[in-house]
Formats: sequence, C-alpha cells, structure tokens
Amino acid sequence: MEKNEITEYQENLIPYTRDELIKKVHEKLDDKRFQHCLRVEQQAFQLAKQNQVNTEKAAIAGLLHDYAKQRSDHDFIKVINDKQMDPELLDYGNAIWHGVVGAEFIKDELHIFDEEILNAVRRHTVGAPYMTRLDQIIYMADYIEPGRDFPGVEKARELTNQSLKKGVFFQTQQTLKYLVENGRPIYPGTIATYNAWQNIQ
Ligand SMILES: [Fe+2]
Ligand SMILES: [Fe+2]
Repeated sequence: MEKNEITEYQENLIPYTRDELIKKVHEKLDDKRFQHCLRVEQQAFQLAKQNQVNTEKAAIAGLLHDYAKQRSDHDFIKVINDKQMDPELLDYGNAIWHGVVGAEFIKDELHIFDEEILNAVRRHTVGAPYMTRLDQIIYMADYIEPGRDFPGVEKARELTNQSLKKGVFFQTQQTLKYLVENGRPIYPGTIATYNAWQNIQ
C-alpha cells in the first residue's frame, strides 16, 4: 500500500536513519532555514507520490537540498578551486553555489553518494536543460512548499499539480523576470534551463 507519510528509511540509500539525518541538517542551519527544509521534505514526498517517483529519495533530497546554504563564501570558493569546478561559478554567489557546489559538502561531510539525490540538490537553484522527475520535484517543492507566500505562488502550485513540467517552466520564467527587473546578473545555466523548457508544456 502506498505510504501517506514519511516513515523510517528502508532502502539503504544513505548511511543514516531519518532522525540522524534531520539532526545533521539542523546542526548546519538556523531554525528558520531548517524548518523550510522539513517543509520541502514533506512537499517533495507528496509530489513524488503524485508523480510515481521514489518517495524515499524525494524526501531525502528535499531534506538535504539547502544543507550548504549557510556556509561562507570563503568555504564555497575553496571547494570550487580545490575541485576544479567551472571557474565561471566564481562570478556568482551563494544563491547559485549552495545548490551546484552544495552537493560537494553533502558528499564530503555526510558520505552520501547517490547521484540522483546529489543531482537534485545541484539542480535545485538553476534547474538544467535536462532534469529527471526527481530533479523537477525538488526544484518545485522548494518553490511551492506551504511556507512560501509570494505573488504567483498559487499559480505555481496549480500548474505543478497539473504537471511538473509546467511548474518548472513557470518558476524559471518568474526567476528570470525577477532578475531582469531588478538588474541582477543571470547565471547562464538559468537561461539554458529557460530555453530548454519553454517548448515542453
Ligand atoms: Fe536552496
Ligand atoms: Fe530551499
């Protein structure tokens, strides 16, 4: 029978119980950000159920998605350099890094190596031209979790319930609009996501 709530992990995807993972995430985040992660965990679980995706994987990726959000710029820059990641990343900041680079902290500190989970974390900030359904779920769960309250969030929830893909395009479009209107720089990956997803509706 389909589970209706997140229970103890059963698939050995990671070397922790759920309680242990929750504790590890909480240690690295202030309470407000931690509560957001718990809501994304729940939202991702629900979206996974609706879309026939592995609910345990979605819950874990949702809980972990902002694991590195509160690290210093110095810490991120060190990882980008040490791991010889794309130097273009250095032109951006935490908003991009905590996803794309954040996955490295999850590998190194938590010893979680499931690439589907790591990719969902990597792609949650800027999307990607190709996104698995798990990637789409984490991208959207982060945007529409019940604590979110911004103009357009109801539309985002409606579209996501109709189809994940519609949600992904909508969010990317809204993000680009916001960045342009506020004169902010745009990470090229965000534009690539927008271009790739506009015909997929
Ligand atoms: Fe995030
Ligand atoms: Fe988030």
